Amino acid sequence: MSLFRTKSLASFQEKQNQQKLQKNMGALDLVLLGVGCIMGTGIFVFTGVVAATYAGPGIIISLVLSAIACIFCALCYSELAVAVPFAGSAYTYSYTALGEFFAWIVGWSLVLEYMIAASLVAAGWSAYVMGLFKSAGMAVPKAWTAVAADGGIINLPAMFILLFLSILLLHGTKESATLNKFLVGVKLLAVFIFLFLAGPKVNTANWSPFLPFGFSGVMTGAAAMFLAYIGFDCVATAAEECKHPNRDLPIGIIGSLIICAVLYISVSAVLTGVIPYQELNNAEPVAFALRQIGYNLGSALVGTGAIAGLTTVLMALLYGQTRIFFAMSRDGLIPAAICKVHPKYGTPHIITTISGILVAIIAGFTPVHIMAELVNIGTLVAFLATAVGVLVLRKRAPDLPRPFRCPAVYFIAPAAILSCVYLIYSLPVETWIRYAVWTGLGLVFYFVYGYRHSALILAEKITNQ
Ligand code: ALA
Repeated sequence: MSLFRTKSLASFQEKQNQQKLQKNMGALDLVLLGVGCIMGTGIFVFTGVVAATYAGPGIIISLVLSAIACIFCALCYSELAVAVPFAGSAYTYSYTALGEFFAWIVGWSLVLEYMIAASLVAAGWSAYVMGLFKSAGMAVPKAWTAVAADGGIINLPAMFILLFLSILLLHGTKESATLNKFLVGVKLLAVFIFLFLAGPKVNTANWSPFLPFGFSGVMTGAAAMFLAYIGFDCVATAAEECKHPNRDLPIGIIGSLIICAVLYISVSAVLTGVIPYQELNNAEPVAFALRQIGYNLGSALVGTGAIAGLTTVLMALLYGQTRIFFAMSRDGLIPAAICKVHPKYGTPHIITTISGILVAIIAGFTPVHIMAELVNIGTLVAFLATAVGVLVLRKRAPDLPRPFRCPAVYFIAPAAILSCVYLIYSLPVETWIRYAVWTGLGLVFYFVYGYRHSALILAEKITNQ
């Protein structure tokens, strides 16, 4: 039965008192962290690719459907993020609601999500930067800027940006959040420049036919665009570092998701309105569209903004990654020695260094499509567990203070569960196999190390002595 041992809220509080992270984030910081983490490859790369290959102008509906699925998940996240406001998000919620075994699986899935997503976005960053170099007429040696599957040897720019941002994070949330705010501003400006320049040039004839691939294309597009909304959960991982979690977390999570959804839908409507959807299968569709309608300077500006946008996504993913590891090691499931908080910077510096090096190695050598699929499955498992966790905790701990309650929970949580199951089901079988291998590795680690060193089992032993 001890596999399903759960953590009491009091035990979280006790541990939290022993290992404190600095509390220096407010609601605006969290909304910006959310927008910084969410809006990246989705808007700057996938809007064009998905419109051209799956959904046509119907990508607008795909984005609305994906956003609805994410909002179901976000409402569940918000209830638990406020009721259990400790580092670790879905991992911590599962520990409280579903027990240690499921918490381990969820934590291990989150590690996969954050690590691979950071590597994936770094690959996008590398491609955009190399694009700028090429436009400036500078030669780029493919061997050092692409993985073997794309005809190179190693993707050094992707490795460079991951290591550089990890060093920034080592030096503390505050400094990183300040840079994050600046970069989010640049990214939003880039999107507004695009909408302002291209909006008046929309030719509604390009929206016809609106559903060239039928409704099934729209659904495939919704599954493919899911990746674009990943990131709001980064906000929940900052629970222990915000000043007023009860008010700030729901504002941060839902606010950032809605801002991103509105901007994605606007950008894809304008994009498919100015350029026929068949021509949008392009690694930089937003900049491409502006060049096509004669705005070369605007295009360069938007390209630069995209690089800023991808950088903030990276920063927030790396930040979330270290906090998941932090929560797991604090619970004894991974070695506690690596959970130490730096005396001066107040950050988990050892974990930040280890995960920075790991993601850089992954980004240096792994093809993009494999990373994209793994990110989706890792995230969906975590969202699924969160939605189940909300229902379980409503039954098991009805009196738990819930400053934010998911509205219509008996509709929203099942809707979130069904959406996640449907999307997991839509992923290729090879992705399920890769995910099963990852989970198998995790279970070996759990039974060899985590199960015996869990803070809960140690507490049981002390009580029985
Ligand atoms: N949502 C993130 C992006 O679009 C992963 O890049």
